[in-house]
Amino acid sequence: MKRLDSAFEKLDSFYQELIDEHLRGEGVDDDDEDILGMQITLELNSDKPTNWDRVKALLMNLFLGGTDSTAASIVWIMTALMKAPHIMKKVQTEIRNVVGNNRKVDEDDLPKLPYLKAVMNETFRFYTPLPMLAPRETTKKFDTDVLPGLIMHKKNPLLLMPKLYRS
Ligand code: HEM
Repeated sequence: MKRLDSAFEKLDSFYQELIDEHLRGEGVDDDDEDILGMQITLELNSDKPTNWDRVKALLMNLFLGGTDSTAASIVWIMTALMKAPHIMKKVQTEIRNVVGNNRKVDEDDLPKLPYLKAVMNETFRFYTPLPMLAPRETTKKFDTDVLPGLIMHKKNPLLLMPKLYRS
């Protein structure tokens, strides 16, 4: 429990530091406001008393949602490419043609890398990094075309598994 508390304290002070940097205007470009800046503006303009915990919860969501999912996707994409060396070669050629040998790929290059994008999409289809989505429930009774003959009742629990829909 002590370790858990200490981990949360560290995260809390890291998030506070990010918020303070924004409030001081450090590293913030007016023309290119980021998601934290927008959340801070909403919080400061809200009718309710300012509560930084709401902003920290958003940051926590982004960190938790964005780390393991991205890491798992990269591992699967690289695994798929290792299993298909001729595809790996084509991706490498595309990247060298667009980016060259002296710098890393950045966000602006992505629209010019359609083959890389196709490889990523195909890997998501074959090796879904999140095989089971968060539990959901239906809001009303309905008959479904997707699963003929299956009637969903109101408040039916649903577990969606993208992997099952692979063609
Ligand atoms: C390739 C990488 C990623 C994959 C495969 C992925 C996958 C997913 C999936 C399948 C969901 C829906 C989960 C559900 O509704 O049950 C989801 C939601 C979410 N993801 Fe990602 N994600 C990725 C990257 C990221 C990144 C980089 C961020 C943040 C910087 C992020 C933040 C979130 C958040 C906040 C939600 C919840 C959205 C909501 O329900 O309002 N994800 N992600």
